[in-house]
Amino acid sequence: MNETLASLNAAIEGKSEIESLAILADLFPGEVVFSTSLGYEDQAITDLILKNNINIGIFTLDTGRLFAETYMTLQKTNNRYDTKIKVYYPQTDAVENLVSTKGPLSFYESIENRKECCFIRKVEPLNRALKGAKIWVTGIRAEQSGNRHDMPRLEWDEAHQLFKFHPILHWSFEEVKQYVKSNGIPYNPLHDKGFVSIGCAPCTRAIQEGEDFRAGRWWWEDESKKECGLHAK
Ligand code: ADX
Ligand code: SF4
Repeated sequence: MNETLASLNAAIEGKSEIESLAILADLFPGEVVFSTSLGYEDQAITDLILKNNINIGIFTLDTGRLFAETYMTLQKTNNRYDTKIKVYYPQTDAVENLVSTKGPLSFYESIENRKECCFIRKVEPLNRALKGAKIWVTGIRAEQSGNRHDMPRLEWDEAHQLFKFHPILHWSFEEVKQYVKSNGIPYNPLHDKGFVSIGCAPCTRAIQEGEDFRAGRWWWEDESKKECGLHAK
């Protein structure tokens, strides 16, 4: 695997974000997918892909607990690019069972419960969305958290047995914001209300100036436990 990783790295070395995405899409036709949460970072990548007609499938995971503003952003994005972003939902039986046995807010009660909800609503649908893919593109940025700091732009994901590519890993938050605004890209209006990283409504809140980028996610939990399982190693 190291060999392929090295050759892919060589192929995108020194290339722009658009060029890198296009090179990877050409190397693996129909096998490159991008997961969007419809946040700032992901909106910038959606624009890079769709404006340049790069052959990368775009999907989002609708957990059933998203903000109304996130659905509005999905619709506006579909309209803007005349596209239909693919939407994956959790398995009905699993959600029915979870909510019927543990109630609608079980995730506040313990980390195990929170991870169970994230698994049912995000991780299992993600695994279906990634079936058959060779490269998974994400909007992760190094600045977002301690464990994202030293990530490489292209990496092998052992859990999903594919390569992960983070095209805007080294962009600053300001650069992302600037790109979105100057290109008139639709964005989640919650970003103008202090929300930086936006996930499910009951598990996301706005942050104060100076707080960590992900401080508004699962804020009641210990810092070290805050990944939801999508990007678990
Ligand atoms: S998470 O692990 O905390 O949920 P985060 O919100 O930082 O992830 O987003 C990092 C990347 O994960 C996004 O750029 C996107 O590629 C992917 N992602 C997160 N949430 C979703 C979602 N609901 N649907 C699709 N992709 C998502
Ligand atoms: Fe459930 Fe919260 Fe995870 Fe969303 S972020 S899947 S509501 S625990």
